[in-house]
Amino acid sequence: MKLFSAKTYIDRRKQLKNTVDSGLILLLGNDEASMNYTDNHYRYRQDSSFLYYFGLNQPGLNALIDIDNDQEIIFGDEFTLDDIIWIGQQETLQSKANKVGITKVNPTAHFESTIKVAQKSGKAIHYLPPYRHDNLLKLSQWLSTPTTQIKIGASVELIKAIVKQRSIKSAEEVEQMIEAVNITKEMHVNAMKSIAAGKYEYEVVSEIYRTAKANNSYLAYPAIFSINGQTLHNHYHGEIMKEGRLVLNDSGAENAMCYSGDITRTAPVSGVFTDKQKEIYNIVLEMEESSIQSLKPGIQYRDIHLASNKLMLNRLSELGLVKGDVNEMVSLGIGGLFMPHGLGHQIGMDVHDMEDLGEQFVGYRDGLSRSTQLGLKSLRLAKELEEGFVITVEPGLYFVPDLIEKWKAERKHTDFINYEKLKEYYDFGGVRIEDDILITTSGPQVLGDRIPKTVDEVEETMRF
Ligand code: GLY
Ligand code: MN
Repeated sequence: MKLFSAKTYIDRRKQLKNTVDSGLILLLGNDEASMNYTDNHYRYRQDSSFLYYFGLNQPGLNALIDIDNDQEIIFGDEFTLDDIIWIGQQETLQSKANKVGITKVNPTAHFESTIKVAQKSGKAIHYLPPYRHDNLLKLSQWLSTPTTQIKIGASVELIKAIVKQRSIKSAEEVEQMIEAVNITKEMHVNAMKSIAAGKYEYEVVSEIYRTAKANNSYLAYPAIFSINGQTLHNHYHGEIMKEGRLVLNDSGAENAMCYSGDITRTAPVSGVFTDKQKEIYNIVLEMEESSIQSLKPGIQYRDIHLASNKLMLNRLSELGLVKGDVNEMVSLGIGGLFMPHGLGHQIGMDVHDMEDLGEQFVGYRDGLSRSTQLGLKSLRLAKELEEGFVITVEPGLYFVPDLIEKWKAERKHTDFINYEKLKEYYDFGGVRIEDDILITTSGPQVLGDRIPKTVDEVEETMRF
């Protein structure tokens, strides 16, 4: 188990205790999740907030911070001899807990009674909204609250405190994220080199997974790899890659400390972009690079999203795919036809960092609410950026025939959209380019080593 120093966890908990007013903070760890029968599990993943404050990456743990009595306790059971026969000799939980600055370890069975005593004495019990059903059921039992009321009862004070803290990445976290991106780079370069006409997509996908594993990592999310890049989250890898198509690879490593990379590259199956592909690709590249250049503390990410939409519509207008006033097109949401997703999101231990705590708290704020327009409604980060945020910048340009046909049938924005010319792009697919960026006062820092991105760099990588 890889850990930061005990001081890191002690300081993090201290900061949390200083932010939340009073009462008990419960942080639930994750248990194993069964796949097809009890003892056959999905890959184990600890809860990220639990990892952030208590570091221990194993199932069967919960933790409590008693703000008023300045106590921090991990609840869990030592492995029995029966367990050890199956899983081998283990370091004791007490010894692991000491490494994250915790001296008090209580048996799991005491967790419920500790909560109930605190409840009886009228203490505030702060907990996070559960995203796993087993934790929902446990909270329901421990708090004697119906399951339907558990999410509603989650502590907004605790959520806000954790979002505030976890959003600002420390130097040692950035180091982990750079490692995750560099492993991701290797995954992407190996994938690019393995792309060839006639191969199945899954043959390249296997390269992505192999490279992650060869670096003692997992994927931070299931690979999106497809010649149908216009399907935003395409997890089907059974197509044969044909000459003349583009292939989109959105995949990232989660390293041993559970920090994520989230990178997208798009490459021509043949290894060489056609002129038509180059035109669209370079629009997306310009969107990505100009968005990155404008990142700084204080700027609203929603404005960067809109500026990038405007740039895209200007360039599409030069190609004759749209016409008319670009500002008007932006406010009508026409950009959503070509980029029906947001420009990016926060990233950290979770690929969409802290999304379990509620996007409104992570990407928005009081007075800034989510649009209902196609594209903007999927913008996960809209608020002002701060020094220490790590975010993705991931513009895309897609031709989704079903969507275009629907708008056309509804005669939507016919003054602006050249539906006739768009037909020439129905088999184009889509392009997305994505990097992970640290926000600093001295300029944006693209994390990790450069990953082939320009037309020349991609073609050069695929040549050898
Ligand atoms: N990497 C997938 C996404 O950001 O939604
Ligand atoms: Mn992303």
